[in-house]
Amino acid sequence: MKTKIAVFASGTGSNFKALVQGDTGDGEIKLLLTDNKDAGALALAETLGIEAFYKYPGKFKTKFSVKEEQNWVDFLIKKNIQLICLAGLMRIIKGPLLEEFQGRILNIHPSLLPSFPGLDGAGQAFRYGVKIAGCTVHYVDKGTDTGPIIFQEAVQVLDTDNRDSLAARILKKEHELFSKAVKAHCSGRAVYSMVNR
Ligand code: GRF
Repeated sequence: MKTKIAVFASGTGSNFKALVQGDTGDGEIKLLLTDNKDAGALALAETLGIEAFYKYPGKFKTKFSVKEEQNWVDFLIKKNIQLICLAGLMRIIKGPLLEEFQGRILNIHPSLLPSFPGLDGAGQAFRYGVKIAGCTVHYVDKGTDTGPIIFQEAVQVLDTDNRDSLAARILKKEHELFSKAVKAHCSGRAVYSMVNR
């Protein structure tokens, strides 16, 4: 039986598209959920033939209100969702979603964590002047970009790079890495554990 997956995205949705088109093994992308009515991901979902929903996240900018977060949980349970993939959700998950889906939420981040968590990981890495940047897929825990790491991929910073060219090469790597991590989770090869904390 396939693992039913919901993708959360607030923006363009290129990682969402890569998940739908990539090899996620025993994982099946069932729906897209967004907190942003203008998210490009919504139009992409229509093209890709994936059910998509906007759901009000509450009045805050970077977190959910508890009531709305519970509404998202209820909706996901009703849809029999077993795994959540955060593909550019611009909002912190802390309350009911984490309680209900602990160990079953994956996030993609454009840096080699634990370096450069938070906003614009690729830009942070570029401005710091690292020579090796990259991306990470990890399980979500209470912190910001701190959960157990599933896979990472390195991207070399070129002398000719600016922030955008580096971010674009990292994004390309993200597209391969996310499906690979979903596949590993769905086959039981990746599990949330505190062992590496
Ligand atoms: C990616 O850089 C991802 O690492 C970060 O948000 C961005 C989403 O991009 N979490 P897209 O909407 O998937 O193109």
